[in-house]
Amino acid sequence: MADRPASPPRKPRLVFCTSRPARYAAVLNTLRETFAITVTGNDSTASDAIESRPDAVIIEDQLVGGDGIWLAQQAHALRGDSRRTLIMVAPKQTLQVGRLLEEGVIDAAIVGAPEPGEFLERFWRAHGTATEDEAIGALSAPASRVIRDSRQLFTRLEGMAESGAIDLEGRRLVATAAASVVDLAGDPSVAPMLHQLRGHHDNTFAHSLRVGILMASFGRAIGVPQDQLRLMAETGLLHDIGKMQVPLAILAKPGSLTEDERRVMNLHPVFGADLVQDGYSDLPALVAAVRHHHEKLDGTGYPDGQARGQIHEMSLCTAVVDIFSALTDRRDYKPPMERDQAFDIMDSIVGTHLEPRLYKRFRELVLDTELVEEPLV
Ligand SMILES: [Fe+2]
Ligand SMILES: [Fe+2]
Repeated sequence: MADRPASPPRKPRLVFCTSRPARYAAVLNTLRETFAITVTGNDSTASDAIESRPDAVIIEDQLVGGDGIWLAQQAHALRGDSRRTLIMVAPKQTLQVGRLLEEGVIDAAIVGAPEPGEFLERFWRAHGTATEDEAIGALSAPASRVIRDSRQLFTRLEGMAESGAIDLEGRRLVATAAASVVDLAGDPSVAPMLHQLRGHHDNTFAHSLRVGILMASFGRAIGVPQDQLRLMAETGLLHDIGKMQVPLAILAKPGSLTEDERRVMNLHPVFGADLVQDGYSDLPALVAAVRHHHEKLDGTGYPDGQARGQIHEMSLCTAVVDIFSALTDRRDYKPPMERDQAFDIMDSIVGTHLEPRLYKRFRELVLDTELVEEPLV
């Protein structure tokens, strides 16, 4: 396995073409947490910046001495098949802006003079969709279904934010978490292993994506800091990576496993920990969760029979999300289990297998936010 790169991942790039940067100071400050930003108001520097193919472009339609509409068309032509985000800012709705939207030249128009919070909401909504579209294009059918379903999930969260049920900051964090799962699936440090897993067994890959997304959402619900959401997402993505070394005849067997087959299957946390321990030695929580996500509080789990007090918090979180996901995943040979039925089963193993406090928070997250109204996969 390749070592993880020592340098932090490259920040995505955003070009903001405006003649009035002071007006967007608050928006720019927030976006700088995520993007490396170039602000330009002049036609020729704007063209140069757009030609460098940034990840997102925001263009004001009334550039002083310039033509925002023309720039938007240029940016659209340059993005080709890739789904780089392209957003127009306009003081009022015009025929020209409406036409750009209709023709799919721009992804969204932010019209009027919205408050910074509202501006950012509209930006994240458009950017999230564009990023996902690009990722979806490269994914297999079960995996793209996970991402598409997760988009519905986040759209639902957006509706809840608008109705005041969750705060704007919360929504931004969850949107970032979702984007980070999509990013991670293509990150050079994670992607080769996930790619191999996908080649070996697509359903396990789809399950891993789903666990990654739910882990990041769960992290947000239990208040972990934003930088830790990435760790949770990454843990979810890699928790079953050891299944790469479990023969397909066992992994994809529709019926129940024989004792010998079960023994091999139950080695996947050990295989997984071997795979990640060198590359992830700086993230012991992730390595622990890969090895210990099947341990139980009463000590009857595997592979090490760890018990209450010995099991890492990250392993306990992963166990809750993993079991919920495994029960409600869609498989070729079985219909997905109803959410409530899954919770009935999980209720019966709280305290002996699952950590009660974490389980309660996860259950609340899913029920209160209706995060998983319908089974996702
Ligand atoms: Fe597992
Ligand atoms: Fe799993």
